[in-house]
Amino acid sequence: MAEYSRCKPASAPAYVSVRINAEIPTLPGGTFRHKIRCQPQSGTQLNLVCAIYPGSFDPLTNGHLDLIERGSKIFDELIVSILRNSEKDPLFTLEERLEMLQEMTKHYDNVRVEAFEGMLVDYAMQKKAKAVLRGIRAISDYEYELQMALMNRKLQPQLETVFMMPAEAYSYLSSRLVKEIFRLGGSVRGLVPELVEQRLREKFHGTAATL
Ligand code: PNS
Repeated sequence: MAEYSRCKPASAPAYVSVRINAEIPTLPGGTFRHKIRCQPQSGTQLNLVCAIYPGSFDPLTNGHLDLIERGSKIFDELIVSILRNSEKDPLFTLEERLEMLQEMTKHYDNVRVEAFEGMLVDYAMQKKAKAVLRGIRAISDYEYELQMALMNRKLQPQLETVFMMPAEAYSYLSSRLVKEIFRLGGSVRGLVPELVEQRLREKFHGTAATL
């Protein structure tokens, strides 16, 4: 059943009621309320919610893609932001990670991929983002994520961190394990997109041919 809400921030006088009840069919548990969307009348600016999904993505896994899918459904715009980190020694170059992520997210019209460096909060403000999206797979993630979220809040109180859980099937999946398994000759089928599997083969064996 459709529901309606009236949003009226002080800065923008003319807002109309819009439908807010939308379903996310891929998620279990029934109806999922879409965020309350403020739809200004013509001539004023849309109050859209942009979120940053930051990470190393070295490499992109199906767990990351699961989170991008979920994020794309609750935020108006999602910027998947790859950290340009000179301290870490990534397996894939920034350009390779950008290319893989762009290819795997090209069917979303509200998702784009970028690189960033420096402080996440500064980058988020520059992008006018209102939230940072992070995935929590297990309790073990929580401590680090909480610390980071609270520090980011201290640095920039206007920026919210939103945690989402990927599908259970990806709760034990990490980029680090994918690299280790592949390096040792194990199968990563179903854990990463085929494109990433192919790039891993090229990296480790110098060939794109199927094993
Ligand atoms: O995929 P990762 O490696 O867990 O992502 C970590 C990331 C990129 C989110 C984090 O290292 C980060 O935000 N780095 C940017 C520098 C920064 O803002 N540091 C202060 C964090 S409180």
